[in-house]
Amino acid sequence: MFSKLVLATHNQGKVAEMSDLLRSFEVEVVSAKDFGLSAPDETEDSFAGNALIKARYVSAKTGLPALADDSGLCVKALHGAPGVYSADWAGPEKDFGKAMDLVYEKMDGAEDHSACFISVFALVTPDEQERVFEGRCEGKLVWPPRGTGGFGYDPMFVPAGEARTFGEMTMDEKKKYSHRAKAFAEFKKIFT
Ligand code: IMP
Repeated sequence: MFSKLVLATHNQGKVAEMSDLLRSFEVEVVSAKDFGLSAPDETEDSFAGNALIKARYVSAKTGLPALADDSGLCVKALHGAPGVYSADWAGPEKDFGKAMDLVYEKMDGAEDHSACFISVFALVTPDEQERVFEGRCEGKLVWPPRGTGGFGYDPMFVPAGEARTFGEMTMDEKKKYSHRAKAFAEFKKIFT
């Protein structure tokens, strides 16, 4: 693999989960924040497009391989929203209580609570090689949100086959189901 890898994210929840996933690799993991980098604008309308923007930016700025995750919650009754705009729904103050309220409000009593989390990892190396890996986690939304674990929309999402929300699970329990762990499993395949 590489001796050093930069995580192209400022989201502490993602840094924690991605560092944990990379634990079994003999690689020094650092984050874009350690380099004082700002976050580039995510101007694409796909997870893959935005993940590539982030990984390209960080790899170009650091001269190191960069791994980015672009992810979000896609709600069936909302035709896939908030999707790539999942972070934006929390506003500049990153208030996910508010974002979860907004999802509930927009669902407007819809009976179908199906939703999925999608994560796309982009790996960009300094020689400009690019790879993307996708993971999905199907589930349903519950109201009111439950649990204080995880981040973002975790307290309102119950993965299929479970009764607890991601917010009620430990990071290890969430890993069994999570979209990010699945994208990571795809990423891992290229090194084995
Ligand atoms: P971005 O990929 O940085 O644009 O942001 C993705 C947003 O999707 C995060 O800020 C969270 O709101 C949401 N999200 C992505 N993955 C998860 C997760 O595992 N749990 C809860 N929310 C998530």
